[in-house]
Amino acid sequence: MGCNLLFLLSGEHETLPEAEIRGILESEGIRWKKKGSDDQVLLVGVERNLPQVFANRLALTHHISKLVFFGDVSTLRNGKTLRRIAEEISNQLDGDSFAVRAHRVKQYHPETSLRALEKKLGGEIAETSKMRVNLTRPENEIVVILSRKGVYIGTKFLDVPRADFDRRRPHLRRYFHPGSLDPRIARAMVNMARTKPGDLVLDPFCGTGGLLIEAGMIGCRVIGTDIDEHMVQGARINLFEQGVRGEVFKWDATKICEAPLPVPVDRVVTDPPYGISTTLGKTCPEELYRNTLNGLAEVLREGGYICISTPEQYDLEKNGSSHYKTLEKHRMRVHKSLTRVMWILKRR
Ligand SMILES: C[S@@+](CC[C@H](N)C(=O)[O-])C[C@H]1O[C@@H](n2cnc3c(N)ncnc32)[C@H](O)[C@@H]1O
Repeated sequence: MGCNLLFLLSGEHETLPEAEIRGILESEGIRWKKKGSDDQVLLVGVERNLPQVFANRLALTHHISKLVFFGDVSTLRNGKTLRRIAEEISNQLDGDSFAVRAHRVKQYHPETSLRALEKKLGGEIAETSKMRVNLTRPENEIVVILSRKGVYIGTKFLDVPRADFDRRRPHLRRYFHPGSLDPRIARAMVNMARTKPGDLVLDPFCGTGGLLIEAGMIGCRVIGTDIDEHMVQGARINLFEQGVRGEVFKWDATKICEAPLPVPVDRVVTDPPYGISTTLGKTCPEELYRNTLNGLAEVLREGGYICISTPEQYDLEKNGSSHYKTLEKHRMRVHKSLTRVMWILKRR
């Protein structure tokens, strides 16, 4: 493997950030190997540096660097080691300026001062590279992460613009209805379904359109259906407001195989209702999921993926359809009385 990537993961969830990265790598057919993990840190070996693959895709990562060093924090007290790291970093830098930025995950290694570390490593790099330190607009950023197992040092190549997701939070959209997912989780679901730009993505329970917006933002073609006419109108408004082109129409998801869709669709990403609601009529959630999944098997292409969330008391493997293989499941606590499970299914 040519290059080890160092991901600083968001602390929002234990398993979703890694699942999202795996989803993107697999969507692009990239050969990769997990090289290690730590609290909020993931190391992935790939054949070449891949900035374009992750740009505008990730939601649950802060930034990605090319790994230069991993070791015990105490090894940085050794002047020779520090110089060797500085030399290796200097060989990778381009331009005239740099900054070293150190991050501590949670409270690990409280005895190590981040400022002192930045200064010491920055001094060595300035000396070996002959570049200037520029803390406001550096051309290169050197990342130092202190996590449970030790210290990780890398040269940063991608920042995830996480604040963009805040601007799309459900209550800020033109049409709001409670129950819409946080855009970061919605984006992660799109990525976990191994979705890539250009794919045709269907959400048969589209509500206000949150998942469709995230799929559209990465360049997918999107189609949404919902049984509630208000939601259909609202989703259309929200998609238009975000500049996402897509089709939304009223339909009962349990009859999705009869819908006028351009079949087959490549991916299904959806967040069905969790309890008995007025829209469900007499249908219990179990029946709703089962009938919908059976219908989706007819519109999803062979080898296509579904990312679907259900309440944890519902076991898709026991009650679900034999048309799919379960690849992953992730538990996610929403509040005291609701834990959802995100399932990644593959059409056999
Ligand atoms: C949890 S919400 C989806 C939220 C959505 N992800 C969003 O961003 O707003 C579930 C949606 O399923 C719709 N629904 C319920 N039963 C349905 C059915 N049989 N067919 C299609 N949609 C249905 C509801 O109207 C509701 O909008």
